[in-house]
Amino acid sequence: MPAPAASKGPSNLPVVGPVIFLGAPGAGKGTQAMIMAGRYGIPQISTGDILRSNVAQGTELGKKADPLMKAGQLVPDELMLAMVGERLKQPDCQRGYVLDGFPRTVGQAQWLEEYLKTASFDGRQMAPVVISIEVGYNQLLQRLTGRRSCPVDGKIYNIHFQPPRKEGVCDSCGAQLVQRKDDKEEVISERLKSYESQTLPLVEFYRRRESLRQLNGEKPVDEITAEISAILEGAAGGH
Ligand code: AP5
Repeated sequence: MPAPAASKGPSNLPVVGPVIFLGAPGAGKGTQAMIMAGRYGIPQISTGDILRSNVAQGTELGKKADPLMKAGQLVPDELMLAMVGERLKQPDCQRGYVLDGFPRTVGQAQWLEEYLKTASFDGRQMAPVVISIEVGYNQLLQRLTGRRSCPVDGKIYNIHFQPPRKEGVCDSCGAQLVQRKDDKEEVISERLKSYESQTLPLVEFYRRRESLRQLNGEKPVDEITAEISAILEGAAGGH
């Protein structure tokens, strides 16, 4: 399916419709999704963040997801589909959204494909733009072990590549930065295995639908941001 044209919505921002960020753990999906959400005035829907919030609140979903996330395994599709289905019905999804961490299995991708047949964005149907952010294994390891995030505003840092101005403290709000529980080496290797066996097949799934754009995710954040923006606005290619 072709990428959607960038029409203007009521806020005069381009209506980008559904955007999917594919990529291994640590590829930079969350970093770029947060920037794009701000730039285009659409929500960043991070399934990992929604699950972590459920874990923190001790909901039924959180109790089921917690041991799986700690082990680096995926949460079963039926739980994910109910959770994402609810989220996509919210009114802030009308002009589009950035899916960060979903879909992650062929079953989830098939569900989304059906869902999008009935969804409309600014009054029209839009095919997803699927952006695969690609990073080598050693770089992923460094990114994940060095990641720190702000528990208040979600801003993501890296002690090696994107350190905060003051060690351990969020530049924007001054909160103490935290390290994710699943960013330990033994869990990271399980997450990478789950990615290879269950999520990597989605690259082929979307390539067959001609909606895939592949980016070199080892470039600086700003360069990747510029490439993604160009893709979303239909102004340039990202290959
Ligand atoms: P989730 O939270 O989605 O984690 P993930 O996919 O493993 O991805 P990450 O958040 O680790 O990485 P990222 O690509 O967002 O990278 P980031 O931008 O932070 O999922 C966690 C768990 O929840 C899963 O394991 C699973 O159990 C469950 N789950 C979630 N969704 C699910 C689903 N759909 N189905 C089933 N289970 C699900 O960047 C990483 C680091 O690199 C940061 O420190 C950043 O500062 C740095 N960085 C980013 N870009 C660059 C760059 N260009 N150069 C240098 N450094 C960079």
